[in-house]
Amino acid sequence: MPLMASVRRAVILAAGLGTRMLPATKSVPKEMLPVVDRPIIQYAVEEAVAAGVEEIVMVLAPDRVAIREHFGGGSRIEMIARKRGDTALAERVLAPEQLATFTFVEQREPLGTGHAVQQAQPYLAGEPFALLFPDDIILGATPCTAQLAAAYEGCGAATVIAVQQVTPEQIPQYGIVDPDGPGNPARLRGIVEKPSASEAPSGLGVVGRYVLGPSIFDQLETLEPGAGGELQLTDAIAGQIAAGEPVCACRFEGRRYDAGRPAGAIAAAVAAAIDREEIRPDLLAHLSALMRTEQ
Ligand code: G1P
Repeated sequence: MPLMASVRRAVILAAGLGTRMLPATKSVPKEMLPVVDRPIIQYAVEEAVAAGVEEIVMVLAPDRVAIREHFGGGSRIEMIARKRGDTALAERVLAPEQLATFTFVEQREPLGTGHAVQQAQPYLAGEPFALLFPDDIILGATPCTAQLAAAYEGCGAATVIAVQQVTPEQIPQYGIVDPDGPGNPARLRGIVEKPSASEAPSGLGVVGRYVLGPSIFDQLETLEPGAGGELQLTDAIAGQIAAGEPVCACRFEGRRYDAGRPAGAIAAAVAAAIDREEIRPDLLAHLSALMRTEQ
């Protein structure tokens, strides 16, 4: 799939409290918990970069210095590697900061996804941008963000959202879309944040990947608090639809894991490790031994 030059910037939201992963997240941001040998947030960065993104704006909670340190220079291990002349070690340490150009902005209070996205506006030059929630790790041959960028180009939409089928029990955890038909991408008639299963317009849940057109900021400016008393990005997208703008949902190809929850984080780690040739044989041996003792 060709890289889409129209989406050169990405916003990554990393300002959540991480309560589902306590106590690990008491002092370490949940986005810095490891999946194999890199932090959760690096998967989102690598996915965006693989889709052609060059500039990344990270929206962080005020105390989350570890994320800045990870994608910034000057760490102690870097200095030690340089002192020893160990270029191989230095390269591994420098790899994260060399992935893209990073800007860090703070969301001082946890007022919702809509409010978090607003903090990034000054750095987006009025252009369309990808938005990634790093909790969602999506593995597959074509990056999910690249699939959305292609759909954004293809259907001339104001916004494109990644969706996947969820179970009725899962519906209250997701934004749920109302597509106008079975096509893929499908134009949306509506979108609602965390409805009950009986009120949901479909079983298609929003996954944390979007390509948003700049008109989203017009909607965010006038947004009132929604579900959970927070400023919800979903409501701003509903505003784009109500204003007659084309908003599409894309059922992407790929395996998605919710790394913000313990079972999802472990499944993501196993899946990502199986994709790594140097780890796969050992891991499969461990897993089959475990399966034997479980039976
Ligand atoms: C957020 C969005 C929701 C979306 C979900 C995907 O919810 O508000 O629309 O379905 O991410 O992960 P959160 O998980 O932050 O409660």
